[in-house]
Amino acid sequence: MTASGLFVTFEGGDGSGKTTQLRRLAADLRAAGREVVETREPGGAPGAEDIRRLVLEGAPGRWSPVSELLLFNAARRDHLEHTIRPALDRGAVVLCDRFADSTRVYQSAGRADGTPGADPALVEALHQLVIGLEPDLTLILELDPATGLDRGFARGGAETRFESLGADFHARIRDGFRALAAAHPERCRMIDASGDMDAVAARIRAAAAPLLDAR
Ligand code: TYD
Repeated sequence: MTASGLFVTFEGGDGSGKTTQLRRLAADLRAAGREVVETREPGGAPGAEDIRRLVLEGAPGRWSPVSELLLFNAARRDHLEHTIRPALDRGAVVLCDRFADSTRVYQSAGRADGTPGADPALVEALHQLVIGLEPDLTLILELDPATGLDRGFARGGAETRFESLGADFHARIRDGFRALAAAHPERCRMIDASGDMDAVAARIRAAAAPLLDAR
């Protein structure tokens, strides 16, 4: 639980439509009179955005799983200190595009080339030591990985390092998010991200309503 604001994270595979849906929920909440901070990971603060470029650009094998884990945590700590904590302390709703669950799922998943992922116990221990914050609500958008990847490549740009990791990898990511939702039913909600944007937005509003209406 957060101090006074509300911390909501959007998670899911690449191209699942998180970013669009986050913006829609933000607009709805602002229309209802709430202060909303929209942010994303990796990034969300100037130092963390510098680290984003290091982890998302370049060759798929550029970083080992553990080096990558440390970079994501460095970025997250900076984001927490400069953006998330101050916003929660003044009572805002923070909507964050990816957070620690992405690290739990992506950095523990082995790579397409057979490189094993980081040890899940290390991922968890590091999170508890240097971050120690869990969302009030985590919306996990699930979409068939092939559809999601097509959307990711169609978007283009330099940030294709994770999209290049292969179909098996992305199927493991989907399974990882399902397992995570099962392990944390108190805060995680699976959202069917197929179909048109309005239908997905309605599912999200329904999943978030109990929490948002209560606080
Ligand atoms: P993002 O820019 O949110 O891409 P998308 O819009 O496709 O979700 O995230 C970029 C990539 O970074 C994405 O493939 C997931 C990966 N990632 C991790 O591996 N670990 C993390 O902790 C985070 C935050 C992201």
